[in-house]
Amino acid sequence: MQALKILPDIYWVGAVDWNIRTFHGHTYSTKRGTTYNAYLIMDDKITLVDAVYGPFAAEMIEKIKEIIPEQKIDYLIVNHLELDHTGALPEIIKLNPKVKLFCTQKCKEGLSRYYNADWDIQVVHSGEKLKLGKRTLTFIEAPMIHWPDSMFTYCQDEQLLLPNDAFGQHYATSERFDDQVDLSILMEETAKYYANILWPLSQIILKKIEEIQKLNIPIKMIAPSHGIIWRKDPQKAIKAYLSWGKNETKPKVVVVYESMYGATEKMARKIVQGITDAGISVKLFDAAVTERTEIIAEMLEAGGFIIGSSSHDNDTLPTIAGFLHFFKGLKPKNRIGCVFGSYGWAGGAIKSIEEIFKQTGIEIAQPALGVQYGLNENELRRCYEYGMEFAQKLRKR
Ligand code: FEO
Repeated sequence: MQALKILPDIYWVGAVDWNIRTFHGHTYSTKRGTTYNAYLIMDDKITLVDAVYGPFAAEMIEKIKEIIPEQKIDYLIVNHLELDHTGALPEIIKLNPKVKLFCTQKCKEGLSRYYNADWDIQVVHSGEKLKLGKRTLTFIEAPMIHWPDSMFTYCQDEQLLLPNDAFGQHYATSERFDDQVDLSILMEETAKYYANILWPLSQIILKKIEEIQKLNIPIKMIAPSHGIIWRKDPQKAIKAYLSWGKNETKPKVVVVYESMYGATEKMARKIVQGITDAGISVKLFDAAVTERTEIIAEMLEAGGFIIGSSSHDNDTLPTIAGFLHFFKGLKPKNRIGCVFGSYGWAGGAIKSIEEIFKQTGIEIAQPALGVQYGLNENELRRCYEYGMEFAQKLRKR
């Protein structure tokens, strides 16, 4: 795949990582791969905005060579320190020894830790401008979206926002723009990225978007550093982030469980029947079967969570324990939930899940439903009613 002109004199020079299947170590499953997007601006000062992950450095350099056969990059904008965007920097800087870097103070500190190099770095702050020639870039610090060093770069002349990870998706494609891909897949991957990485930072994201809106800067294109570029409808991405940032929900329930001998699964299926018959949308996941990040993505817009586990050693089963550990860190707001599970004697799983709900601020809508060993007809009926009652509570919110 070659360098691609995305605007007059602005080129995508990134790389597509088709085969990556886990990201952030093993915290995020990337079933559709990802891309590392970098952008070359041809102006009096030739400027590269962000770079790619180290193993893709050569591929990126090849693309840059198609546009400028001799390496003569003047400026390097480092919007974010993380290795998927800076891994190629040592190679780029080796080829362009006079290049000047622009980044936040936190990014400068992090670069020195990661690369231990004597690079020419200028620290920039929100509102500061950098004249390239015909074009001027404006920097907008965006701490904790999603690292303390993160920054957005805005090009007024092209009305182009380069927000690094924000509005991105782990989505490997041969196409580069939102009007060239299946919109439902694009939104699914955008939501999955938000749910698994940005959800706990929702308040910060909301404030940043409001701050940018107050600046009254027109945005015709959003070019993130992962996935697809928003050129047809950048407002779609912004509106989605505003909604997710406000923790807006739909009348939808996600039921997640793990079962040892099948009793907890029977409970889950009856609960789902009750919710369905109450006319509320519901999705059911066995945490031992469905990958965690896929479940979390489904939870992003759901107003109700029902979680269940068989009890083991006075606690939840181990796979759902890992799921709950991750889920707790996402700090979902404005949700109701309830808990169920079968047990042999102590029933500790229910207590553990309720404790996690309390810690995350999920309102416990009804007392937990526990069943000892197998289920009789009355207990199965009770599970059905349990789902129906929860659905009715969700509808009334
Ligand atoms: Fe895509 Fe935070 O790095």
